[in-house]
Amino acid sequence: MFNKLSLKIGLLFFVFLLGIEALLFATLYVTLVNQRVDEVMESLLARGETHSAVLADNFEPMTLEHVGMMEAESSFVAVITDENGEILINSDPLEPEMLEVLGHIDYDSESPEGKVIEKDWDDKRYIAADSPITIGGEHAGHVFMFSDTAGIERMVKGLQNQFLAAGLITVLLTVVTVLLLSRFITLPLIRMKEATEQLSRGNHRVDLSTDRNDELGELANAITRLSGDLDRLKNARNEFLAAISHELRTPLTYIKGYADILGRPELNESERKEYVGIIREESAHLARLIENLFELAKLDRLQFEIKREAVDVGGLLQSAAALVKPAFERDRIQLQVDCESEGLVYWDPERIQQVLLNILDNARKHSEAGSQVAMSCREENGKVDIRIRDEGEGIPAEELPYVFERLYRVEKSRSRDSGGSGLGLAIAKEIVELHGGVIELESKLGSGTVAAIRLERGDGSAESIAGR
Ligand SMILES: Nc1ncnc2c1ncn2[C@@H]1O[C@H](COP(=O)(O)OP(=O)(O)OP(=O)(O)O)[C@@H](O)[C@H]1O
Ligand SMILES: [Mg+2]
Repeated sequence: MFNKLSLKIGLLFFVFLLGIEALLFATLYVTLVNQRVDEVMESLLARGETHSAVLADNFEPMTLEHVGMMEAESSFVAVITDENGEILINSDPLEPEMLEVLGHIDYDSESPEGKVIEKDWDDKRYIAADSPITIGGEHAGHVFMFSDTAGIERMVKGLQNQFLAAGLITVLLTVVTVLLLSRFITLPLIRMKEATEQLSRGNHRVDLSTDRNDELGELANAITRLSGDLDRLKNARNEFLAAISHELRTPLTYIKGYADILGRPELNESERKEYVGIIREESAHLARLIENLFELAKLDRLQFEIKREAVDVGGLLQSAAALVKPAFERDRIQLQVDCESEGLVYWDPERIQQVLLNILDNARKHSEAGSQVAMSCREENGKVDIRIRDEGEGIPAEELPYVFERLYRVEKSRSRDSGGSGLGLAIAKEIVELHGGVIELESKLGSGTVAAIRLERGDGSAESIAGR
């Protein structure tokens, strides 16, 4: 379970924490030991100073005797000398180490200040302090105090043991913390890795949703969302394929059926003509369907090119109206164009015309004879707003969100006269969005539909921009 990442993170944490802890412990230890040793030295010197002060007032054999007796009972050794270092009294028997210290004193150049003269508690058996006795400004003698270093060593040893115990506990706690921490960080990563492996194996439903709101939580939720998207995409693709085969099958069934009928000898000329017409119509429908599908495939493969050029909006609307005019006249639907927006825009005129033609075609197909279709344009917040309004049958509110989907038609039965394939609005939406615009449909069942396209005027510098 101790995989690579957690090992790396764990080791890194461990080394860092241990380094910091070791530094802190070492500093604390050295400071503590020095402080304690200084305290011992200072108390030794203070004791000597007290004796020296008493003796300065009373430098008599009796007092010397008293000091000697006092220190004989204590753990210290006091040695009192005259100004030349001749020993007057010593509280305990003198050890060679003490004599060595006394032998190294330069009695002639002594200052009247008391001081510690042997500090090396680590190597020597005794530490020592010297408190000179000064009577009336005259140097009269010395009180030397000795203390066994075994006490200090014991104290330091005790400290060392305490530090060792604390250090071990700290290392143990560090290890536990690092283990928990690295698991806390790497466990979700391992789960995400497994989830993405499942995704690539084709299982598009993984659930990593978590309450964490840190970066790892965000990543987990993003992967969950991705899996949902993939799942939806897979379903959409399957549905699309099913719809396409259905769309292709229907006209082919007509063509085959009428071709079979045409083979019958008993048909008269007018019947024959009618059936040939139907076959022609259906093959034209098939060809258009395939062409539209091909166009959408190009849009999907990012090969669709928007060739922007300077065009006049009014002119664009007029020419689209002129193209659909015969069909509108045939169906006796009135078409009005009213454009307030002036000046040039930078769009792909052919593509935008394709969008307008499809919307006009929809308006015509879903309007009754005698009704009116109005195409208008105006300027709004620096954008061009084109609207095509019809007074046709309208779209049920529950169907409205889907009309831009590929192969979606409100009237599910594919009647030969309405004849659409359900691709027109999908293509229109792609084209408008490639131009950076939006296309929306508003509709009320029974009273009509408004298609609105909002487009930026565009920039002359971007003459030709490859799709997306
Ligand atoms: N103006 C409208 N009035 C009523 N229904 C509409 C209108 N415009 C679109 N629709 C509905 O939305 C559906 C999708 O429109 P779309 O243009 O994408 O496809 P189509 O017109 O059926 O086929 P195609 O445009 O590919 O020939 C239509 O089938 C129709 O049901
Ligand atoms: Mg259409």
